[in-house]
Amino acid sequence: MSPLGRREFLVGTAAVTALTQAGCTSTRSAIETRPDGGGFRTPLCDLLGIEYPILQSGMGGVAGPKLAAEVSRAGGLGILAGLGLTADELRRRIRQVRELTDRPFGVNLWLHTELRPPADVARIPESTVRAVQGVFNRFRQRLGLPETLARPAAFPDLIDSAFEVILEERVPVWSIGLGDPGSEMVRRCRERGVKVVAMVRTIDDARAVGRSGVDVIVAQGGEAGGHRSTWVKGSSREAATIGTMALVPQIVDAVQVPVVAAGGIADGRGLVAALALGASGILLETRFVATQESEAPDFHRRAILERGSDATTVSDAFTGLYARWFRNTFTEEYAASGAPVFPALVQARAARDIFVKAAAQRDPEYFPMPTGQSAGLIHDLPGAADVVQAIVREARGVLPALSLRIRLG
Ligand SMILES: Cc1cc2nc3c(=O)[nH]c(=O)nc-3n(C[C@H](O)[C@H](O)[C@H](O)COP(=O)(O)O)c2cc1C
Repeated sequence: MSPLGRREFLVGTAAVTALTQAGCTSTRSAIETRPDGGGFRTPLCDLLGIEYPILQSGMGGVAGPKLAAEVSRAGGLGILAGLGLTADELRRRIRQVRELTDRPFGVNLWLHTELRPPADVARIPESTVRAVQGVFNRFRQRLGLPETLARPAAFPDLIDSAFEVILEERVPVWSIGLGDPGSEMVRRCRERGVKVVAMVRTIDDARAVGRSGVDVIVAQGGEAGGHRSTWVKGSSREAATIGTMALVPQIVDAVQVPVVAAGGIADGRGLVAALALGASGILLETRFVATQESEAPDFHRRAILERGSDATTVSDAFTGLYARWFRNTFTEEYAASGAPVFPALVQARAARDIFVKAAAQRDPEYFPMPTGQSAGLIHDLPGAADVVQAIVREARGVLPALSLRIRLG
């Protein structure tokens, strides 16, 4: 039995909310279970047309059509990664998802200000080029790659054409990382029946995307793996670091639309905790990296099973933007070098030869492995559908168990 299954100690139709008894009066109507004992719905499920309030984020290099479709088939919302794809490639992948499932799914794009339009690489000072390539050359030497002091290539301008594909294909959900779509993009989505989900890191940004009219806001806490979902890079690693526990209820209080909690959640206990904070659902990614359908390299998936929650660090060395990754030689030596970084994703393009060689050699020391603090909760490599089902099963067990552990009055 899986670790989740072992913890599933009390399940039944009496899964009525201990949260309600604990004073969360709004929770009584916010969670619905089916009379046959199998459901777990919140209003978010009706809004997005899904069975369970569980979203799998659209992670670059991990979330291809298979993973997204499998999560949607299991009743959650699978989200396809769209960053860096040409319009034709994105359309091909969207159609692949549709061949695998007729359930709702999403497509994720970044809207960072350094990507729309992409930063002008001609304006990068020569001293920065030499400093960055100087550190990369140390890594290249060790990996047997030719050294270079060349100016990096710009990141391609693909976001606006990808957005048009989302509209043309009438993708059920557009998921936004690192950006505010503004009211015009939201209006165009509404015309096509596309729901808009935007992920934020701060209360001010939550208010901003709320004003733009998005349908759902994802509150991304500091524990989360991957990039900080802000559209302007913070001045230091300390910017926009509020943890999930403190961030979610503040965003719930600040906005009028359903809020989804993200960061540090990997099981049914996390789902129930998120609902207690006022969220209507959860979005996870680190948990889905360690699944059969994930496109992450084996050494990344294995590292999630083997390493603990303190094995991650926040660094801008891989992409030019702050994100949480497994700590490795690349993050540590880059930080020690004191070198600056190139603009958003230009840094990743400049280091591409290093990442490709490291992947070919299965060398985790020079490869970016975005991972959140929930890594310490993950001990198996199931199918993505099993993850969705296990989270629901466990959450259904936790609810009645809570009422046994709390004495009121
Ligand atoms: C491997 C990986 C890749 C990610 N890629 C993206 C992405 O392309 N777009 C995005 O909006 N968020 C991305 N994220 C961040 C997730 O959307 C989400 O905020 C985070 O994973 C939630 O926390 P968790 O890792 O604790 O589950 C990524 C996260 C990981 C772990």
